Amino acid sequence: MLTGKYSDSLLYRRHSVRKYSGAAVTPEQAEHILHAAMASPSADNTQPWSLIVVDERRLIDEIASIHPYADMMKTASLAVIPCVIKSVADDNPFYPQDMGACAENMLLAAVECGLGSCWCGIHPQKDLENKFISLFKIPDTLFPFCVIAFGEPADAMPPSDRYDASRVHHGSW
Ligand SMILES: Cc1cc2nc3c(=O)[nH]c(=O)nc-3n(C[C@H](O)[C@H](O)[C@H](O)COP(=O)(O)O)c2cc1C
Repeated sequence: MLTGKYSDSLLYRRHSVRKYSGAAVTPEQAEHILHAAMASPSADNTQPWSLIVVDERRLIDEIASIHPYADMMKTASLAVIPCVIKSVADDNPFYPQDMGACAENMLLAAVECGLGSCWCGIHPQKDLENKFISLFKIPDTLFPFCVIAFGEPADAMPPSDRYDASRVHHGSW
């Protein structure tokens, strides 16, 4: 476990949360998450993202029924679907990295405002992409990258530490 002044960083308090209390996500918390998404780095600052914010109970529940590994949506209070703008991605082969940074920024912002989250993959699974395109009426100019659940965690979780010194090589290999 990391010791010292960085040991309590929010990075180590982020977990994939799969059970939420049901408490509402406040507009202030949602705003922070969405702003954090767009504060992300992207190759050449291309910002290939466009976000669908889902706060309607019926639609959040529908996500659990179309995604095979998203049961946590049933207790989540908010879902965000970062979508890729095709015209930007066409000229930017780094777009998956940009979208990953965008997703991670939202997860970290959630911790900062006392929320839990769970990233659920969509792209590049075409069947899954198509189900989201159909349910959320996503136009042809975009495709869904992933879907993220947000809510107040039902249970407290201890900080994580997966550091493995054998995976670190200083200088050259
Ligand atoms: C690209 C990606 C796709 C993921 N898809 C799912 C998913 O469909 N369902 C799920 O419950 N968790 C999903 N996760 C969460 C991982 O299972 C989780 O990050 C991993 O087990 C490590 O646990 P932690 O997030 O609590 O540190 C995904 C994470 C990533 C980065």
